[in-house]
Amino acid sequence: MKRSWLLRLLLVGLVSGLLFEAVGQGQAESKAQSGDVARGKALFVRHCAGCHGPEGGGDGYRFLRGPDPANLTSPSTSKKSEAELIKTSHDGKPNMPPWKTRLSEIESRDVLAYVQTLAK
Ligand code: HEC
Repeated sequence: MKRSWLLRLLLVGLVSGLLFEAVGQGQAESKAQSGDVARGKALFVRHCAGCHGPEGGGDGYRFLRGPDPANLTSPSTSKKSEAELIKTSHDGKPNMPPWKTRLSEIESRDVLAYVQTLAK
């Protein structure tokens, strides 16, 4: 009698453990795909705000030559797809360094997820 109770308890524990894990993994995956805005914001402040301004308004740094940092709150940026934005930030632009080797794939997604929240 005692034994079967113990077995059942173990089984329940095992099954709910597995369930929890599955749910946890599902969340981690969907986050990795769309980018984490909070982490993106921290990255933006560290790497991008110097040029693009604290709010992404393009008011960070003025260059002597070439294009000024893009206003990331403008419709011309918010209309772009995530793929286009990733390409730009990976490859860089005149006056903007390429971020491919400086940010991981996940960091790029995070920072661009944040950029996409800047649109006014
Ligand atoms: C050294 C200055 C500088 C830094 C640092 C910088 N940028 Fe830029 N960025 C620019 C400039 C200048 C342009 C505009 C280039 C042009 O108009 O051709 C630009 C353009 C862009 C664009 C294109 C906007 C559009 O509408 O196509 C994106 C996206 C972008 N930057 C994202 C980022 C992100 C994300 C970071 C941080 C990881 C970052 N930038 C850091 C200078 C910078």
